[in-house]
Amino acid sequence: MSMVRETGDTAASLRAAMVNELYEMGVFRSEAVAKACSAVPRHVFAADEPLESAYAANKALVIKRDVAGQALSSLSATHIQAVMLEQAEIEPGMRVLEVGSGGYNAALLAELVGDTGTVVSADIDAEIVERARACLDAAGYGRVRVVLADADSGVPEHTPYDRIIVTAAAWDIPPAWLDQVSERGRIIVPLRMRGITRSVAFDRDGAGLVSVSYRLCGFVPMQGNGAYTERLLPLADGVTLQLDDQRQEFDTEALAGAVHGPRLEVWSGAAFDLPDELELFLVSSTPQMVMLHGSKHLVDQGVLGLSVTRGVPALVIGSSFAYRTKRPNEATGGFESGVFAHGPEAEMVAARYVELLRRWAFEHRRRGAARIRYVPLAEGEAEPAVGVVVKRFGVVEITWS
Ligand SMILES: C[S@@+](CC[C@H](N)C(=O)[O-])C[C@H]1O[C@@H](n2cnc3c(N)ncnc32)[C@H](O)[C@@H]1O
Repeated sequence: MSMVRETGDTAASLRAAMVNELYEMGVFRSEAVAKACSAVPRHVFAADEPLESAYAANKALVIKRDVAGQALSSLSATHIQAVMLEQAEIEPGMRVLEVGSGGYNAALLAELVGDTGTVVSADIDAEIVERARACLDAAGYGRVRVVLADADSGVPEHTPYDRIIVTAAAWDIPPAWLDQVSERGRIIVPLRMRGITRSVAFDRDGAGLVSVSYRLCGFVPMQGNGAYTERLLPLADGVTLQLDDQRQEFDTEALAGAVHGPRLEVWSGAAFDLPDELELFLVSSTPQMVMLHGSKHLVDQGVLGLSVTRGVPALVIGSSFAYRTKRPNEATGGFESGVFAHGPEAEMVAARYVELLRRWAFEHRRRGAARIRYVPLAEGEAEPAVGVVVKRFGVVEITWS
């Protein structure tokens, strides 16, 4: 058997296994997306990788890093690509703009829109554009248009788009995307909100947008005009606050002292599960909620709880703060949520946080209970408030049912 044929056979069986795995993970809601994943030879877009990596359902492959080693471009994991394509509900004949190229997702899009549709894929990086073009040609998707552009301004040449699918983490929705999506169009975007990212599928709602679904995801950050540096505020060695609001003031010295002071522990009696939904609820609950990151070292020393190592929403009021933790609930076999609090007002912040944990558990503990709206505004018109995250060109409003 020839080498090429052998590679092709192995790739085909690994691809079939990947598609089965995605079925088992419950990713597919439509036949069309599953068929596209079965059709596109992913290994052609990951030529430097072993075939097993190319077809690992949940693995992103880094294509380019910056000088500090941070990923600038990656071939996203098939899992999240399929999730977002399901959110997009693409039909044959549609015109689609992909923001951020790698080639593979554009090929999946080409399968979904078929011969009568159009796929435009834009990347800000000339090397990535060249690579995506070459991979698409090698895989037989010459009809995808790959363009070099800062997609913060969209790609006006091929408008209007029925779908704009963004594959880098966006801090805001630039006005060009709203201008270039058709009246009945949809924007699917990994949106940063107070330190967390959700892939939100937005339909038009008057001058703004309203979510039809949202999913957990992680993406490399947007570059160019839409790039945004979130504020990182070191409190003490190994403890950092991460937040959107550049103006919010903190007594960092007092908070640093609180980190190493006594720790109050309070349990909510409420169930802890669906952590990604709870996280979205907490970050949208009040502007005083910011992300707290802590080192494993401080966890091992018993100063902070384990939840800080991946970043956890923390309620910061004056020189006190509280964040969530969990413990097994033997009666239910699940977990109970609770709070660790530090500082002179530890009891007050803990009580407020526990109230939020209970409210979520008793009123909103299910998938998809949030509705996310994007309302365009002139700069400076809005203030952060309960359920409101202020962006540059508009505000994100999150409400819970
Ligand atoms: C996760 S990768 C894209 C993955 C790709 N869609 C795939 O098929 O796997 C994100 C890409 O977004 C690009 N990017 C970042 N900011 C951009 C911008 N403002 N305009 C266009 N592309 C951008 C990066 O260069 C990077 O290649």
